Amino acid sequence: MKYKIAVISGDGIGPEITGQAESVLSRLGELFGHEFAMTHVLAGGAAIDVFGEPLPDETVEICKESDAVLLGAVGGPKWDGMPGHLRPEAGLLKLRKSLSLYANLRPAILYDVLKDACPLRADLVVGGLDILVMRELTGGIYFGEKGRRTGPNGPEAYDVECYSEMEVERIARAAFEAARHRSKKVTSVDKNNVLESSRLWREVVIRVAADYPDVTLEHMFVDNAAMQLVRNPKQFDVILTSNIFGDILSDEASMVTGSIGMLPSASLSGTGMPGVYEPIHGSAPDIAGKDLANPIATILSLSMMMRHAFTLEQEAAAIDRAVSEVLEAGWRTGDIAKPGERTIGTKEMGRRIVEALKR
Ligand code: IPM
Ligand code: MG
Repeated sequence: MKYKIAVISGDGIGPEITGQAESVLSRLGELFGHEFAMTHVLAGGAAIDVFGEPLPDETVEICKESDAVLLGAVGGPKWDGMPGHLRPEAGLLKLRKSLSLYANLRPAILYDVLKDACPLRADLVVGGLDILVMRELTGGIYFGEKGRRTGPNGPEAYDVECYSEMEVERIARAAFEAARHRSKKVTSVDKNNVLESSRLWREVVIRVAADYPDVTLEHMFVDNAAMQLVRNPKQFDVILTSNIFGDILSDEASMVTGSIGMLPSASLSGTGMPGVYEPIHGSAPDIAGKDLANPIATILSLSMMMRHAFTLEQEAAAIDRAVSEVLEAGWRTGDIAKPGERTIGTKEMGRRIVEALKR
C-alpha cells in the first residue's frame, strides 16, 4: 500500500528527531512492503522565516491531502517577540483547528527497563504505569475569546474558557471508547467547584457515561489530580480533561514515567481528516543541533500513526518492539540515563532502533 505522510519538522530539535523517525518509516516500508511517501512542509518558526506566517495555506492543503501528519516541534526564542497570532505556537493551534483534531491521546507508559528514570519512590510504581491522557484539543481557553482592554485598574488582558456540550460529549466518548480497550476506568478532571465551564463538563460526562456501564467513572478536581499523579499514579487509567488541564497534566504524567523525551501523541479528528502524530515535548532550543535529543517520543508517535491512521497493527508492534529492545540492551540518551551512565546521541539512538526493526 502507498501512504501519504506530510512531515512538519518544525524548529529546534524538530528536524533532528523527525529525521530519525523518517529513517524508521523508510525501513518499516521496506520490511513490510509499504510505500510511505513523505512530503516536507513548513510550519512554526521555519514557516515564519520563509513566508512571514506560522501556518501557510499551502501547508494546510498538503496536510489535508495526506493520510497522516508527522510533526516534530515548533517554537524557539528567535520568534518569542512576535505578536501572539504570529508566534510559531499559533501555527500549531491553527493546524489542530484546521484539521478538527479535537481528541489528543497522550499515553504515559513507564517501561520496566526505565524504572530508574522515574523520579518517584519505587514502591509507588511497582508493575509499571500505563496512563492515557485524553486531552480536548480544539476548544477551551486556547481558542476562546481573548484580548486586551482597559479595566478599572488600567490595562488588562483576558482569555475565555468556554465549552459547548457538543465539544465535551465527543471527547468524553473518545475517552470511554479508549477505556473499553484498557482497564475500563475514566477519571474526568475538572474544576467544578469553581468554574461554570467545568460544571457543564461534568454534567455532560455523567450523561455520556450512561452509555458505557462497563466503564467506571470518577471525577477529580485538577489540583487534586496534579497531586494524585505523584502520590499514587497507579490509580489512573484514562484521564479525560480539557485543553489546558490536559496540557499541564500530560507534562506531569510524562515526567512521572521517566522523561518527557519518551511520550508520543496522536491528535485525531473523527471527521476523516488526517491525524497529527507528534512527541508531546517541545522544540528544546537549548539542545537543538547538538545531537542530544531523544528521538523515541517521535518514533513512538509513528507507532500510534500505524495503529490509528492505517490500522497496521503489526507494523506498530514492530516499532514498539524495536524501541524496547534497544532500551533493554541498555542504550540511553541523556534524558533517560542514570547519573554516570554512558549515553548515545539522537542519530545513534535512531540508527539502533532502525537496525532493531524486524518483521
Ligand atoms: C503541547 C504544547 C503546545 C500546547 C504548545 C507548543 C502550543 O505544549 O502540545 O502540549 O500548549 O498545546
Ligand atoms: Mg504542552
